[in-house]
Amino acid sequence: MSTLTDQISSRRTFAIISHPDAGKTTLTEKLLLYTGSIQTAGSVKGKSSSKHAVSDWMDIEKQRGISVTSSVLQFSYDGYCVNILDTPGHQDFSEDTYRTLMAADAAVMVIDGAKGVEAQTKKLFKVCTLRHIPIFTFVNKLDRETRDPFDLMEEIETVLGIGTYPMNWPIGCGQNFRGVFDRQTRRVIAFEGDGHANATKKVAEIEAELGDAELADLIGEANHANLIDDIELLDGAGDELDLDAVRTGKLSPVFFGSALTNFGVEPFLKEFLRLTPTPLPYTDCLTGDPVDPMRDEFSGFVFKIQANMDKNHRDRIAFVRICSGKFERGMDAMHMQGGKKLKLATGTSLMADDRATVDEAYAGDIVGLFDPGIFSIGDTVCAGKCRVQYPEIPTFAPEIFARVTQVNTLKRKQFVKGMEELAQEGAIQIFREPGFGMESVIVGVVGVLQLDVLEQRLKSEYGVEVRRQALPYSEIRWILNDPSTYDIAKLNLTSDTLRVEDMRGRKLLLFTSAWNVNWASERNADLELSEVGNFS
Ligand code: G4P
Repeated sequence: MSTLTDQISSRRTFAIISHPDAGKTTLTEKLLLYTGSIQTAGSVKGKSSSKHAVSDWMDIEKQRGISVTSSVLQFSYDGYCVNILDTPGHQDFSEDTYRTLMAADAAVMVIDGAKGVEAQTKKLFKVCTLRHIPIFTFVNKLDRETRDPFDLMEEIETVLGIGTYPMNWPIGCGQNFRGVFDRQTRRVIAFEGDGHANATKKVAEIEAELGDAELADLIGEANHANLIDDIELLDGAGDELDLDAVRTGKLSPVFFGSALTNFGVEPFLKEFLRLTPTPLPYTDCLTGDPVDPMRDEFSGFVFKIQANMDKNHRDRIAFVRICSGKFERGMDAMHMQGGKKLKLATGTSLMADDRATVDEAYAGDIVGLFDPGIFSIGDTVCAGKCRVQYPEIPTFAPEIFARVTQVNTLKRKQFVKGMEELAQEGAIQIFREPGFGMESVIVGVVGVLQLDVLEQRLKSEYGVEVRRQALPYSEIRWILNDPSTYDIAKLNLTSDTLRVEDMRGRKLLLFTSAWNVNWASERNADLELSEVGNFS
């Protein structure tokens, strides 16, 4: 029987981020293949292939070949229990990515070696840095023509502002790709060219000293000469791998490889698991102290809510990141925000549709709890004598607004339920215009694709057709003045500023421009508006 400490120490929980098409899905698939979690290549892939990603379960994802929601994949490897949190690559869903990163102890950033740092890499990277977690880089597609590795490293450093430490170094690329030189073991891992796409076959590792004639034969004279120069340069830089800098997200260990051809995936996994931290402590905001993940009592927080994952059951699942102790199915726990006791009756582990019931889980793991409609994102659950409360998860300020109206007024109940449930999931934010009923709602989102998903899900999950009218607002501010004494109707505002309220009845204003926000502040001296940066 392993102890609680053994169990928790074996956990490694991370998210993979990338610009679409850099190879995140392919890398995830290869990790699962290596570890025996799936049998055939292609079962994680979506896009043009007929099979869909294990992590893609919603129709819209299948139609468009994008990953909209984040799922969790768990597997064992080499004594580790690995949790991969999948994140959507599309920028319109970066809020979902942010929440997922709140539950991760590290991130892997996949970069296309030919394209370098792309727009979405930058955005997702920024979200990662808010968490100060270690970030590992996998430079992918070395089997194609790529950019010079020194250039790529420089770009990562200058554009993203993080130091880089190459763990291995590529020998050629594209047609001329011969493998990588592992800087720790000083070995060359040779690339055999083809035939690996569907295999779990390991590639040859060759122990050869730089300068050996045998190595020159294997990789070619010119490659060999280049490699000697490159390694001299890297070694000359003299830096040791600074683990503290890695752990605080200041230095990114960089691996080169080719996920599609299975090259460099396993060495990456091994090194990554060795370097990446065990479950990190989260702070209890009741005391301001970090909570030891190894303590006996279970505690965790909800980072994601997903309704109707299984159409046959119409359930809602609250995904909980376990921050301390051990979860057991059926255990009594306290829902801190609701102030109520509850039985954590059912836990599920996700391999997309294939949901298996989880009987126990440990700090670092994610459990999916059936949610009778009581949880909100950021809520804490804890058991035993433990009473902690984890920090709220901030929401992004919506930048795109639309009025959504139901087409068939007989479906009012379903419409209201759908809108409320999807808002609780955090997929959208909804606002009411005083004087309007619930048949027409203002929806705010971060990316326009979220509106497409809303429309589609209302139709398929709630049987409700809606009309959507784009609204010109782009700035949102909550009114901080006391609503019982402050007369909002009397505010002096431009004619295109709208007064609305959110789900909790708080008053706010929607503006068509930042200029109008200033206008309102200047004309109404006592008006106190919320600051809006990245988050509301
Ligand atoms: P994503 O999840 O980051 O969006 O990327 P994904 O893994 O779906 O990969 C995007 C495309 O890049 C896919 O091709 C995939 O096969 C290819 N790819 C991934 N890794 C490598 C690699 O190491 N080398 C090469 N040469 N290609 C790679 P696709 O044509 O868009 O999709 P499909 O037709 O293969 O399904």
